[in-house]
Amino acid sequence: MTMKIGAVDLPSPYAIAPMAGMTDTAFRRLVKRHGGCGLVVTEMVSSEGLVRGIDRTLEYADYTEEERPISIQIFGGDPDKMAAAAQIVEGMGADIVDINMGCPVPKIAKHDAGCSLMREPEHAAQVVAAMTRAVKIPVTVKMRAGWNDDSRNAPTLARMVEDAGAAAVAVHGRTAAQSYSGAADWELVARIADDLTIPVFGSGDCIDPQQIVERMRTGVEGVLVGRGVLRNPWILAQATELAAGRPPRDVTLADRGQFLLDYIDLLLRERIDEARATSHDRWVINKLRALGSWYTKGFENGSHLRTAINSAESLAGLCDTINAFFMEPAGV
Ligand SMILES: Cc1cc2nc3c(=O)[nH]c(=O)nc-3n(C[C@H](O)[C@H](O)[C@H](O)COP(=O)(O)O)c2cc1C
Repeated sequence: MTMKIGAVDLPSPYAIAPMAGMTDTAFRRLVKRHGGCGLVVTEMVSSEGLVRGIDRTLEYADYTEEERPISIQIFGGDPDKMAAAAQIVEGMGADIVDINMGCPVPKIAKHDAGCSLMREPEHAAQVVAAMTRAVKIPVTVKMRAGWNDDSRNAPTLARMVEDAGAAAVAVHGRTAAQSYSGAADWELVARIADDLTIPVFGSGDCIDPQQIVERMRTGVEGVLVGRGVLRNPWILAQATELAAGRPPRDVTLADRGQFLLDYIDLLLRERIDEARATSHDRWVINKLRALGSWYTKGFENGSHLRTAINSAESLAGLCDTINAFFMEPAGV
């Protein structure tokens, strides 16, 4: 099963959804190495920061060759700046530039960016048009169902961005007002997929591999998996196996522990020459805590592990905790 966005071939229709603070290059590489992942998307990156060349912003857009095809997601509301940022993204060698029209966080939304763009569909379409004029790589859009229940306008907006030149659309079937409450509306997503000519990805609430396979049957071309990947980085590989009629692979406790140790190892090799207020070790510990809050959900004694990860004071202590829990479970 393969798919295409513009001229870009995706080896699988399953992708890692963009997640700020979580889907850094190290995490994306590890998920990709486990298989089944057709596309990775960066954390959202500020168009303003890209245009001004702010180091921290450029770091968020960083990727490695093994992640290809790679989509860099940008946020912003000004068509000219978004077009300039898209050119920077193209210059960085990304395969796809994605526009964030889904972020409900006030800090982003109040600047006419993120999901606020859904409240001004004409303006949102202008942003897409300006970007598609500025670059050759495909421009894609990630949106929610709408701003709130009175305005579930994703079907209209999706059509408008298609007409403005978008090469694919991803829809998370919740409104900004819902944030993460309730359930994602896959019926709405299916309607959009049916209506559009360009590929449509659905996003929301795929926690086990079977759900990914079932969602594909709603008529979407692809599925973006967010929190499900943070809980189970093998979920895309398992969905691929299920879709091919094979039993999904078993993931042992030791595999799960090794993933965390590999993540630490990759993080330790990053950003080494950067002067930071906090030490590199502290940064790695904080990254592991962030992942830990998702990764420990849904399995036995997960809350104990979460507490232990959150109270580890040093990297050595963190690795001991991981080893004790996953590699020598009898000792816990
Ligand atoms: C921690 C976190 C950070 C997120 N950051 C982004 C983001 O930067 N850009 C974006 O378009 N969506 C973001 N999302 C939304 C996800 O991409 C996805 O659409 C949503 O979580 C629903 O899918 P899921 O149920 O599979 O997680 C984020 C979600 C989470 C949980």
